[in-house]
Amino acid sequence: MTPGLTWPIKASFVDYVLGMEDGELNASDGATVSADHIFTFEPAGALSFRGDVRFVAHFGMLAVQIANPHIEFGPETAVLTVETGGQRFALATLVMPEPESTDTLLAWHGALPRLTPAGSSLFNGVYPPGHELDPLDIVVAR
Ligand code: HEM
Repeated sequence: MTPGLTWPIKASFVDYVLGMEDGELNASDGATVSADHIFTFEPAGALSFRGDVRFVAHFGMLAVQIANPHIEFGPETAVLTVETGGQRFALATLVMPEPESTDTLLAWHGALPRLTPAGSSLFNGVYPPGHELDPLDIVVAR
């Protein structure tokens, strides 16, 4: 296990974007993307991660940025915040599994994100609030 946030984001969205002739995705500034389109954001402090993922298609009419994810634990649920255009907002609530720990690491496998209204807007309202994104894995140093 390596510290970081690992996430397909939404495989059906990635397929939709890459299915378009001009569709592209980019990962930079601490984010990387694997050959099978799994994104990894590198650690940037407690439950903060860094990296910039962008999707572009429809000749620029579709432009989605998901940058610098951060997990905030609340009393009931956790919230996943991200930045778009430098503005941080709550993308999704997270149903967190029980953490697993080793001597040096703390890991949550399969945290389940459900879109907030703002998260729904990021995807043009195509996915309604409450819609599930793909589960994500979080590994942090303890
Ligand atoms: C230029 C205008 C647009 C057109 C003509 C268009 C067209 C479509 C079509 C036909 C589908 C269904 C595709 C399929 O089922 O394979 C779709 C799905 C979708 N579109 Fe667009 N779209 C446009 C703009 C946008 C924008 C700006 C966004 C913003 C993020 C967006 C987000 C989505 C999403 C999230 C889906 C669902 C993908 C999935 O999970 O299957 N679209 N769009």
